[in-house]
Amino acid sequence: MRALGWMGALLALVVSCGGGDGGAAAGGGSAKTMVVGFAQLGAESNWRTAETRSVQDEAQRRGIELKFSDAQGQQENQIRALKGFVGMNVGAILLAPKTETGWDNVLADVKRKGIPVVLLDRGVKVADESIYTTLIASDFVEEGRKAAQWLVDATGGKCRLVELQGTVGSAPAIDRQKGFLEVLAKHPGMEVLLSQTAEFGLAKGKEVMEAFLKAKGKEIQAVYAHNDDMALGAIQAIEAAGLKPGVDIRIVSIDGGKPAFEAMVAGKLNCVVECSPLLGPMAFDALERLQRGETLPKRIVVDDRVFTAEQAAAELPNRKY
Ligand code: AHR
Repeated sequence: MRALGWMGALLALVVSCGGGDGGAAAGGGSAKTMVVGFAQLGAESNWRTAETRSVQDEAQRRGIELKFSDAQGQQENQIRALKGFVGMNVGAILLAPKTETGWDNVLADVKRKGIPVVLLDRGVKVADESIYTTLIASDFVEEGRKAAQWLVDATGGKCRLVELQGTVGSAPAIDRQKGFLEVLAKHPGMEVLLSQTAEFGLAKGKEVMEAFLKAKGKEIQAVYAHNDDMALGAIQAIEAAGLKPGVDIRIVSIDGGKPAFEAMVAGKLNCVVECSPLLGPMAFDALERLQRGETLPKRIVVDDRVFTAEQAAAELPNRKY
């Protein structure tokens, strides 16, 4: 039964795509365009806005009708959106899940309807992995390792630092901490003084950093931020405390957006580990492969690089988000 449902979804995609404005399908076919639902978790960061834009632009470029839902940071809204997409009988669903858990029931329902689900940028923890088709994302554990390694190298393995975590229960917050701590465990001179979530947001990053500075003041030698927005908030808090970000307190963050590169050029941020939000082309390539009847790998990994302040000026003009 399940296999039939799956095939049905593939056929739905093929039929609905034929003769769309992209005009990709040979032999004409129906005048309908491919309909894809995108359940986005919100707009908490510059990164996420860039991801949304990338998916929307790519859908438009390919003549795909995109049903977009912004869950405003609430998992319940994302679940409601998935049910709504099923009701609309979309050909496929893109899901950027807020947290790792809580998806078993709704994704099993979507699968029963024969609609393939491509997870975008964040993974889920489910008992039955067949309820989603593939995950297109960066390796968040590796990003955490790279951030830690940079900090170890920059400080000679001796540093007291604070950590600004992303959204509690989200794959990037869990994995970026895991990878970071894995490297730190080999360097006893690296000490995490305080660690708290700032929910991937700039304002919250500033607020939590202010509290860190109040509690530990000049003991803090470095900040590890799970994303750029929180690092930018921390920079504001450090400046307000009369200290020099990037000099008195080293900062390493993840994402690598334009504002972070500008901060590096200004000498206020020391290093970024890239995490690309430009996933639209990869997402629709994956759906087109499904449409052609190909089996996708369970995981499609996005490549990330590391940039230091010294490289920032040369790279800044190339940043697309
Ligand atoms: O899932 C990717 C993370 O989510 C990005 O690093 C962060 O900026 C975003 O909000």
